[in-house]
Amino acid sequence: MTEELKRLTEKIGEELGAVKDLNELEELRIRYVSKKGEVSMLMGKLRDLPKEERPAFGSAVNDVKQTIEEVLHAKKRELEDRALLESLEKEKIDVTLPGYAFRQGTIHPLNQVIEDLEDLFVGLGYEIADGPELENDYYNFEMMNLAKDHPARDMQDSFYTDPTTLLRTHTSPVQARTMLEKKGKPLSIICPGRVYRRDDDDPTHSHQFTQIEGLVIDRDITFGHLKDTLLKMVRHLFGPEREIRLRPSYFPFTEPSVEVDVSYVKQNGEIGYIEILGAGQVHPEVLRMGGYDPDTYQGFAFGIGVERIVILKYGIDDIRHFYTNDLRFLEQFKGVNR
Ligand code: PHE
Repeated sequence: MTEELKRLTEKIGEELGAVKDLNELEELRIRYVSKKGEVSMLMGKLRDLPKEERPAFGSAVNDVKQTIEEVLHAKKRELEDRALLESLEKEKIDVTLPGYAFRQGTIHPLNQVIEDLEDLFVGLGYEIADGPELENDYYNFEMMNLAKDHPARDMQDSFYTDPTTLLRTHTSPVQARTMLEKKGKPLSIICPGRVYRRDDDDPTHSHQFTQIEGLVIDRDITFGHLKDTLLKMVRHLFGPEREIRLRPSYFPFTEPSVEVDVSYVKQNGEIGYIEILGAGQVHPEVLRMGGYDPDTYQGFAFGIGVERIVILKYGIDDIRHFYTNDLRFLEQFKGVNR
């Protein structure tokens, strides 16, 4: 019997040497030390032995079983270590290889200016107001003091879907709507948005463009408030050294009205002025239609073209660049204003 045990141990030793992976090792374990394995079978033979030999044989079998289990365990560790090393080797990452660059988008230059001005005006206590682009004649024109046959309508209107509905020609209808909403209470708003007009046949105008209008209504609002606000805005946009010049002008919805020019240094070093926006004190009729008593309340309003700001700031020659999604154009504005 002890002979048999010795042979068994040797056989396992040989077979173990040939084991290549964990599956084979598991087969070996089942064959020898599982419940029905060869070692357990030997235990079964215990009964056939004379009584006095049984304890010694039993403990010898147990020793062998334990040795086998230890050897199998050690082999298992060895195989697992090797598998780990192999996979580490195989999955090795070469950190010196160049990476893949992510293409990062850019914020559209028009949106950069809108966000920039929204930040400025929210900081000054303004709210941002929004309204529909397809607008009723009443809000777009009549509430802005442009009655049905007012000649100034001709300068703007183009896109009607029916006789009283058109694509808004300015963001002023948002002002009209907000006045009615506020029901006579003081307000400070800016309205950024897309507007539509008849096309001028020149590359600095488009049938569609972007506007930001501002409106403030309160008691004792003077032209001085307007001038200060405009100067703040212009310096915020173009730099602290800029000056503004106000020229008398005409808009049906403001009285008095001005056109606002911003100073710039010409190539020969002289100071020049270039027009950038329209503004004025809100016309009493507009206040009245919006639900404000013009004897108690005054206001000022201004309207600025967002494309025009970018065109002046960066010397852009064709307004269509803003709408054609050419990345070569758009990517030049990466992080410019932010
Ligand atoms: N609504 C005017 C326009 O689009 C701009 C403007 C607004 C002018 C407010 C003066 C005051 O032409």
